[in-house]
Amino acid sequence: MKSVFIQISDELFLKIGNLITERYGIRMPVEKKIMFQARMQRRLRELELDSFDEYAKLLFPSNDDSTELSILADYISTNKTEFFREKDHFKFITDRVLSEYLDKKKSQLMPEMKFWSAGCSNGQEAYSIAVTVEEFMRLKHLKIEYSILATDISGRMLRMAKEAIYPISSVDVVPLEIKQRYFLKSKNLKDQKVRLVRDIREKVKPAYLNLMEGEYQFKDQFDVIFLRNTLIYFNVMVQQRVLNKVLNCLKIGGYLLIGHSESLINMNLPIQSVAPSVYVKY
Ligand SMILES: C[S@@+](CC[C@H](N)C(=O)[O-])C[C@H]1O[C@@H](n2cnc3c(N)ncnc32)[C@H](O)[C@@H]1O
Repeated sequence: MKSVFIQISDELFLKIGNLITERYGIRMPVEKKIMFQARMQRRLRELELDSFDEYAKLLFPSNDDSTELSILADYISTNKTEFFREKDHFKFITDRVLSEYLDKKKSQLMPEMKFWSAGCSNGQEAYSIAVTVEEFMRLKHLKIEYSILATDISGRMLRMAKEAIYPISSVDVVPLEIKQRYFLKSKNLKDQKVRLVRDIREKVKPAYLNLMEGEYQFKDQFDVIFLRNTLIYFNVMVQQRVLNKVLNCLKIGGYLLIGHSESLINMNLPIQSVAPSVYVKY
């Protein structure tokens, strides 16, 4: 049987949109209504609901305790990512960040290097950082202690990040020798997948963190924070608020990387530009 396309009223879209913006920061202007409707069809079918009005009862329960809201995050977030996306950033990590670390390590005892991939999607960004550090260590014949926190609001993406299993097409962009060194290939030729090797998997810690909620509680500050292609979904005021909190978690002299299509112009932040979409905290 052909399923019908369920429509949402402008009024209810506005109400749900406001809830999404308030909880997750994600802007929901009226131009996103079509996209929202399309993405939510599957969810309504799963719940066997015939209308968005019925869905609203789950989303706005009388006791204010909506588990559906966290599921909604999976449906409305845009999770586009890829291995070594915006690849000059990974060159910057090698040429500048790791080289500086190495210089300091020669004269003093250095603590573990801490990276944070905030808005990590399915983890490909975090694993790209891990591979970059591993390659640096291999070529320099040395060991650096490091860890990578990878956070997002999407449970579905975080599950993928934990498993570190991806369709084989996702590594088309990865150079052959990197694939051979750091990726395992499944034997199922019909639906072939790759998985990061265990040593790399162990470096990445996926966790839920909503950038909108409270102050972030970390024991130590980070050396490098990737906050790429996530701010773009927020309005400027939310961006400024999130950036202030994120920068509180970055060491002085640490680096913040944003997406190439994002801008921090006119924001009053304790950072200085050092490369395209890369900032150092002062
Ligand atoms: C387009 S992806 C970017 C992935 C990766 N950083 C990159 O550049 O390839 C944006 C991610 O931000 C996440 N996100 C959206 N709002 C968020 C919030 N309030 N807190 C944390 N993550 C959020 C989404 O779930 C999505 O996975």
